[in-house]
Amino acid sequence: MSIISKDISKAIQLLTEDHVVAIPTETVYGLAGNIYSEKAIKAIFETKKRPFFNPLIVHIPSIETLSNLVAYVPKKATLLAEAFWPGPITLVLKKKAIIPDLITGGKDTVAVRVPNHPTTLELLRQLDFPLAAPSANPFSSISPTTAQHVESYFKDAIKMVLDGGACTSGIESTIIGFENDEPIIYRLGSTAIEDIEAVVGPIEIKNTVTEDSKQDTIPNAPGMLARHYAPKTKTILTDHLQDTLNTYTNKRIGILAFNAEIENAQIKAQIVLSQNGSLTEAASKLYDALHQLDTFQLDLIIAEKFPDYGLGKSINDRLLRATKS
Ligand code: TXA
Ligand code: MG
Repeated sequence: MSIISKDISKAIQLLTEDHVVAIPTETVYGLAGNIYSEKAIKAIFETKKRPFFNPLIVHIPSIETLSNLVAYVPKKATLLAEAFWPGPITLVLKKKAIIPDLITGGKDTVAVRVPNHPTTLELLRQLDFPLAAPSANPFSSISPTTAQHVESYFKDAIKMVLDGGACTSGIESTIIGFENDEPIIYRLGSTAIEDIEAVVGPIEIKNTVTEDSKQDTIPNAPGMLARHYAPKTKTILTDHLQDTLNTYTNKRIGILAFNAEIENAQIKAQIVLSQNGSLTEAASKLYDALHQLDTFQLDLIIAEKFPDYGLGKSINDRLLRATKS
């Protein structure tokens, strides 16, 4: 029997009894548990095979509940929360003692966001505890953007996936930390950097991956390993699909293109992310496309580099991580 269900009251019951439940958000599905339940939080790490040093994001129903969890909110954090919550921005702030160390990997900060998904907002309003939720994928594989992706990863290792349809943003939240009260981007994501700068001014980005970042480089924000979001099929990233394709012969190749299809006898599967060149649409379809391309027994996936602005920058970050092996 499928573990996928739309039954919010069942999700409430399971979460209240210290179980983990996969939940929809606007970005990706999360593997959720009560932040105060040691049993639930340990089960999240075990189910994902995620190392304990990699802290979790805490999901809350409203900006008003933030002060229960954090000790201090810099002015620009308030501006960002007011501008973007509910929505795909995560703020890393000084934690209150009430937040268990298991959630934060022993750090004195906690990552918090208000997700913008009607089902999960309703769930969070009805629960009397916040939910810790990392993306609902095994460590370092592609994040799930549908309930079916989650089910195929975990089968009956979890009791329920709360079905909220396909995620509308499709890549993870943008994570913002603060140093001397100034915001810093720790992870590019579903909120475009230009939109953030319109609220708080020019912002520094730390922890982006570059062409020559090695796998397993020790990251300065935990969890931001170079290899992440990766299909099982070898994947490369290029500025020129056709030229790169021409350097191969007799291969089964999958193409992930931005807005136009290309032709070649070696192409066994091809996905165009947005026919009309919309970065928003491309982001929403990115992970599902990688999940699909991974099912064709290809020798190679060639992905096209996106324009390096707006959500294109975030998509390039994920594609680059997918190429690390
Ligand atoms: O869109 C999202 O953010 C999704 C949905 C489910 O909300 N969640 C998500 O969680 O992407 P996860 O666990 O896959 O990624 C969380 C990232 C990790 O890279 C972790 O290192 C970072 O957030 N993080 C969490 N707490 C932190 C902290 N206190 N300081 C620095 N980074 C932190
Ligand atoms: Mg993740």
